[in-house]
Amino acid sequence: MSKDILEKIKSDFEKGLQEAGNDLGKLEELRIKFLSRKSELNQLLKGIKDLSSEEKKEFGSLANQTRKEVETKLMDLIEEIQQRKDLEKDWIDVTAPGKKEAIGHLNLLSKVQREIEDIFTSMSFEIADGPEIENEWYNFDALNIPKNHPARDLWDTFWIKNKNKKGEKLLVRTHTSNAQVRYMEKHKPPFQVIVPGKAYRYEATDAHHEHSFCQFEALVVGDSVSVANFKSIAQEFFSAFFGEKIEIRLRPSYFPFTEPSFEFDISCKVCQGKGCPTCGHTGWLEMGGCGMVNQRVFESAGYEKNKYQGFAWGFGIERLAMMKHQVGDIRNFRSGDLRFIRQF
Ligand code: PHE
Repeated sequence: MSKDILEKIKSDFEKGLQEAGNDLGKLEELRIKFLSRKSELNQLLKGIKDLSSEEKKEFGSLANQTRKEVETKLMDLIEEIQQRKDLEKDWIDVTAPGKKEAIGHLNLLSKVQREIEDIFTSMSFEIADGPEIENEWYNFDALNIPKNHPARDLWDTFWIKNKNKKGEKLLVRTHTSNAQVRYMEKHKPPFQVIVPGKAYRYEATDAHHEHSFCQFEALVVGDSVSVANFKSIAQEFFSAFFGEKIEIRLRPSYFPFTEPSFEFDISCKVCQGKGCPTCGHTGWLEMGGCGMVNQRVFESAGYEKNKYQGFAWGFGIERLAMMKHQVGDIRNFRSGDLRFIRQF
C-alpha cells in the first residue's frame, strides 16, 4: 500500500465532484463509489489490520484522514444542495400582485332594518326586543284575543308541540305585537319604542307572502297621544326612509288590540300615486295594521284603565325593502341566491 493510492483516490474524487456539479443523482453515485462498504477506500481501510505496525502508523491515519475528508466534503455538499432546493421550493414572490379576499356583507333586510332603527333613534325612539318563541298569553290573550276568539284566525299560527315549564302553550310569534305588553310591564309611560324582529305565519308563500318575515312594531304611549301624532310620526318616518315626501292614508280596519283600527297605506313610490302595476293602479301601497291602543291591552300590562292613550303599528320590513330597492319577489330575501344578495 502506498500514499500514491490515497492521492489517486483523492484526485479521482475531486474530479468526480467537479463533474457532478449540483446533480444530486451524480453525487449519490460518488457516495457509493467512494464511501460504500465495497468502495476502494473502505477496502483499503479494512486491509490496514494486516499491515505491520510500522505501516499501520503511517497509512492507517492517512487513510482514515482521507476517508474523513471525502466524507465531510461530499456530505456537506449534498446537504447544502438539498437545503438550497428546499428554500427554492418555499420561495415566495413578495412582489407578486395580491389576491383580494372576498368578504361578505349584510343582507339587504338587515341593512334596511338598521336604517329604520337609525331614523327612529334620531326621533328619540327606543329600540326594544321581544322573544320569537312566545307563550299564548303575550301573543294573543294579553292583546284581547282570548282562546276561541274568531280573530285568532287572522294569524295562522305555528304552534310548538311542547309546553313550557309552567304548562303554557307555546308558539312562534305571529307578529311583533307580542312585545307590547312585555314592554309595558317593565316601563311606565310616557315612552316611544319600536320593536323590529321576525314573525311567522303558517301560510302558503307567494311573491308577496312569506311564512317567515320581519316586522317593526311601534308603540307610543302617553297622557294625550292622538291619531294626529301617529300620522305625523309615520309621515316623517316614511319621508326620511324614502328620501322624498310620502303621502299616507288610513283605512278603517279591525284588530282586537286597537280601537279604532286602521289599515295603513303610503302613496306608491313607483308612480307617485298616479297608478301603476306595482300598486294595482290604485296609487297606494299597503304597509300594515295600526290603531289606537285598546284600553284592554293597557289593563293586561297592569296599567290603570283610561289613564293613558297610545298608538301602535306593525309594518312589514320586507315590504319597505322591496319598495325602496325594486325587489319583485319577497322569497328572494331568504333564497340564499348570491346573484340576488350581491346586488345590495
Ligand atoms: N300585529 C298586527 C299584524 O301583524 C299589526 C298591528 C300592529 C295592528 C299594531 C295594530 C297595531 O297583523
